Amino acid sequence: MIHLSFVVSTRLTGKVVDISRQTELFDRIVAYLDSGFDPMVDDVMRHPVDRYVDLRHVGRERERLFSEFPIVVGHGSDVRSPGDFFVDDLSGRSLLIVRGDDGVLRGFHNMCGHRGSAVELSACGNQRRFTCPYHAWSYDTAGRLRSIPNDDGFASVDRDAHGLVEVPVEERHGLVWVIPGARPGAAIDVASYLGELDDELAEFGMSDHVRERTDILREPFNWKLVVDGFLETYHIRFLHRNTIGPYIGSNFALYDDFGLHARMIGLRSSFHEERSAPLDEREFLPHVAIIYLVFPNTVLVWQGDHFEVWSVFPDGDRADRMVARASLLAPTAPTTDAEQRHWDKNWEVLMNTVLNEDFVVARTMQRNFASGARTHAVFGRQEATLQHYHRILEHELAKDGVAVSNPERAEVPA
Ligand code: FES
Ligand SMILES: [Fe+2]
Repeated sequence: MIHLSFVVSTRLTGKVVDISRQTELFDRIVAYLDSGFDPMVDDVMRHPVDRYVDLRHVGRERERLFSEFPIVVGHGSDVRSPGDFFVDDLSGRSLLIVRGDDGVLRGFHNMCGHRGSAVELSACGNQRRFTCPYHAWSYDTAGRLRSIPNDDGFASVDRDAHGLVEVPVEERHGLVWVIPGARPGAAIDVASYLGELDDELAEFGMSDHVRERTDILREPFNWKLVVDGFLETYHIRFLHRNTIGPYIGSNFALYDDFGLHARMIGLRSSFHEERSAPLDEREFLPHVAIIYLVFPNTVLVWQGDHFEVWSVFPDGDRADRMVARASLLAPTAPTTDAEQRHWDKNWEVLMNTVLNEDFVVARTMQRNFASGARTHAVFGRQEATLQHYHRILEHELAKDGVAVSNPERAEVPA
């Protein structure tokens, strides 16, 4: 999928990544270009296609990936002020995320302590009380049960034990992370989970970015096909030849292993001019696309001057339905029509390419995987990040217990 916007506003790219890291990456890429060899791993990988169609596999993904790992459920810029809240259901559990009167961000199951109705039916808003629509039990922003109508009927009920059930939540890099299936009181430590990636993401200053827009997309194919689409550049000059193909290098994809996670760097066509700029003027970030695969289901795409955030989930219990939350994070909120048009144009190009090209082939892949005609797909040596992702998925789904922090690189057997 790897989509770069056509237009990069250099005015917006002033900060970010540690220059030594950029220099090192720039030099590694130039070394590959000069050698005439694309970055590749040692071997191809065969991958069973039942992972995209088997219902038991989806059940296992639900109970492990979408329950036990930190999952991105939204954006910190949506819950900046006390009383700001949003509800997110995509992980399969309805979660209420709310900024407390004390400024603390908390997450709860959106489930009443009386008989289990959703307490909050709106998607987002700002309020100090959450009143269940069924019998009007009411909760405060810290999840405490504050009132029960006709409470003489519940005289022996311990109110402290009937507040909203908390889930561990953390805001980091401007994103809101939750472990949806964790027990109340369980810890969440996103920095440790991200490992080395944490420092690198911090350098982008994402916590100051604003969510410029979000679309929720639903399609008739397995959720992993969306993630897969980001993890190689091989398809760009074929599938996207009439859209983004002319602007992006196909086949060149610098892959790095970050334990559970991975980074892939693709080249914009402008990279080739930039490499001849004087060393002290050379810029890296406007001339590349950086794909951060954040296990298990999020892809952060650095698009030269902003991030896209994609989080993808199974939609219900079916293997052939996905739901994705796609957002554009801008460094600052647009203040002029020209800035607004810049983000509008980026989004239009992205959605046009994804919906009319990537998703069209994904639908055909899903039907074909279900046909039984072939048992395996094959991931090429240049599809290294794709190989990484599926190796880690297989490894984590086969394991008992939870990865509470990100293991150092490459403990997963090939
Ligand atoms: S189910 Fe919420 S008040 Fe009855
Ligand atoms: Fe694509």
